[in-house]
Amino acid sequence: MLGRMNILCRKSFLHLCRQLAVAGKDRGIHSSCRRSTVMPAWVIDKYGGNDVLRLNQNVLIPIIHYPNEVIIKVHAASVNPIDVNMRNGYGANSLNMSRDPLHVKMSGSEFPLILGRDVSGTVMECGLNVKYFKPGDQVWAAVPPWKQGSFAEFVVASANEVSLKPKSLSHAEAASLPYVALTAWTALVNSCGLSKEKCPGKRVLIIGSSGGVGTAAIQLLKSWGAHVTAVCSGNAFTVMKDLGADDIIDYTVASLQDQLKTKDPFDAILDNVGGTSEELALQYLKPWSGATFVTLVTPFLYNNDRLGIADGMMRTGVTLVSKVMKHYCKGIHYRWGFFAPSGPFLDEIGELVDAGKIRPVIEDVLQFSDVRKAFQKLEAGHARGKTVIQVVDPKK
Ligand SMILES: NC(=O)c1ccc[n+]([C@@H]2O[C@H](COP(=O)([O-])OP(=O)(O)OC[C@H]3O[C@@H](n4cnc5c(N)ncnc54)[C@H](OP(=O)(O)O)[C@@H]3O)[C@@H](O)[C@H]2O)c1
Repeated sequence: MLGRMNILCRKSFLHLCRQLAVAGKDRGIHSSCRRSTVMPAWVIDKYGGNDVLRLNQNVLIPIIHYPNEVIIKVHAASVNPIDVNMRNGYGANSLNMSRDPLHVKMSGSEFPLILGRDVSGTVMECGLNVKYFKPGDQVWAAVPPWKQGSFAEFVVASANEVSLKPKSLSHAEAASLPYVALTAWTALVNSCGLSKEKCPGKRVLIIGSSGGVGTAAIQLLKSWGAHVTAVCSGNAFTVMKDLGADDIIDYTVASLQDQLKTKDPFDAILDNVGGTSEELALQYLKPWSGATFVTLVTPFLYNNDRLGIADGMMRTGVTLVSKVMKHYCKGIHYRWGFFAPSGPFLDEIGELVDAGKIRPVIEDVLQFSDVRKAFQKLEAGHARGKTVIQVVDPKK
């Protein structure tokens, strides 16, 4: 039955491609779907450095496997640290378990692997159970890391991971936000319990405020009325001020600890940096008041890579529980934050974007042929917002 549906979906998808080609509407990147069932995509066939990234013009166009999926024609994507980490093999054990929970496939079956989590594009085809979207809709999404990614002409996502693109943004602008904004959202809302109602009057510290997640987090918090203190390098001050940060700390000029001592304590801390900043910052929360520390830098995937899933999960559990208990005794909630795909959360973020409360922070827009360059750039560090990959030339 499923196989039949796949064939039907592929047939109707290809029919749509042909129609688009005939109508001359599809004038983007060299669009292989006019002639065949293949598309261009950046793939890796093994884990490693930047040289493992390969532009393959003949990757099979993805098909719908489940009735709740949609096929999206990618207009723009963007790079995140997770792409660089996945290229290096980080998280492979955990992600392969999500891809193949019964472990029936051969080792290496994840290749050729397409990286890229963010997408902004056009819905081409919908599974039978998809009610909210139709072909032609302009959408944005963050595709979870266990699925094939968006550095390709087409990507498949579940409808519940997809949202209508904010009307005020171009595709390139929209592609800069989903992964980082959803990470900031889940960390602040799910882990810290913050929201529009609870934020006014709250003091929040963001460590690592100048990158993708930090710039999204500042804007979310400011749109909800929080007081935001941003920790970044001095050359990011202008961006931080433009985004509405109330107080800015330059961690490069003096010790962060000395600078934090001079501030009032915080109700919440979002740590995007990890390492020593964690122990240091935890002292500056208001104890016994529900204050929460959330870090995005966790040993979860690393432990599973190093120790295998069972031992890794055990080690992770012990580490997390001991930290939670240790800080709970001091009146502080300690949490780990994780990206979670969510169309409904993206709908809410989209409303804030269209209301002018969140804007994309983009430091560079590169062409599809420059994906390797985008990885190099991100790997060099010091991001100021996001690097976008323009997959379809908007002028054509
Ligand atoms: N757990 C999850 O699901 C999840 C999801 C998304 C991201 N993450 C992780 O969260 C972290 C941030 O992600 P991102 O996308 O925002 O990364 P990013 O775009 O690369 O930004 C990192 C930012 O941190 C700044 N920085 C570096 N060291 C710093 C320090 N000691 N103090 C203050 N700022 C510092 C960098 O600028 P300068 O070096 O110039 O200061 C840069 O602007 C990454 O480690 C990423 O892997 C985790």
